Amino acid sequence: MKTNHKNSERFVAKIFQDVFDKYDLMNDLMSLGVHRLWKKQFITWLNPQRNTMLLDVASGTGDIAKLYLDKVNYKGCVYCFDENNGMLNLSEKKFKKNTNIKWFNGNAEQLPFKDSFFDYYTISFGIRNVNNIDNALKEAYRVLKPGGRFLCLEFSKVKSELLNKIYQTYSKTIPILGKIVVGKSEPYEYLVESIKNFYNQEEFYEAIKNQKFENISYRNLNNGIVAIHSAWKV
Ligand SMILES: C[S@@+](CC[C@H](N)C(=O)[O-])C[C@H]1O[C@@H](n2cnc3c(N)ncnc32)[C@H](O)[C@@H]1O
Repeated sequence: MKTNHKNSERFVAKIFQDVFDKYDLMNDLMSLGVHRLWKKQFITWLNPQRNTMLLDVASGTGDIAKLYLDKVNYKGCVYCFDENNGMLNLSEKKFKKNTNIKWFNGNAEQLPFKDSFFDYYTISFGIRNVNNIDNALKEAYRVLKPGGRFLCLEFSKVKSELLNKIYQTYSKTIPILGKIVVGKSEPYEYLVESIKNFYNQEEFYEAIKNQKFENISYRNLNNGIVAIHSAWKV
């Protein structure tokens, strides 16, 4: 299993603790708003049905939960799960009084839910931050119902050499942007490093396959800057 030397639980938790209140703003700035399009494509591929249960792990400020609820016309239930209470509180504020959504604090490697409970498990820009990815995938498999679907949106490896060069150059500006907007560059140095250290498309495919999932496939978005991996518990 590939691990990021800085992926110790405490290190990652501190990183998100340092930036959670500027998380949405920085996401828009760093991706020039493109993360919104990626997330829309993610939910389009998930194609959630009404009266289903979604577990969104590493839910951050609730972008995926919102897209899911819009898609099922608020006829479904989403559990937002994150280890950062600041993120969960921001997400809670966005939804106000809504009975279709619940928030839980904890680690993706040890989910406090029973076996075969959810129709969908989503994780968007979260899996590369997890200390032991195999444990998180095992837990995803466990909590999904038979016939349930796993969908992961994550940074991946750019296919075109030219685009990769441009992307690498652009990545160097991210910590500078972090310093200007948030007053800290370290969390954004971690972001760039964690993307570099994460699996490529095929490696992540294999990691999913090793956890009993079936019908695994993936799609590259923007030439592989990010990829969506899909898998089923049969
Ligand atoms: C980059 S943000 C992604 C947020 C959101 N899913 C999105 O796409 O905008 C990563 C989130 O993962 C959470 N996280 C990191 N490691 C985690 C873990 N082991 N268990 C649960 N949440 C974790 C962080 O607290 C943070 O909210």
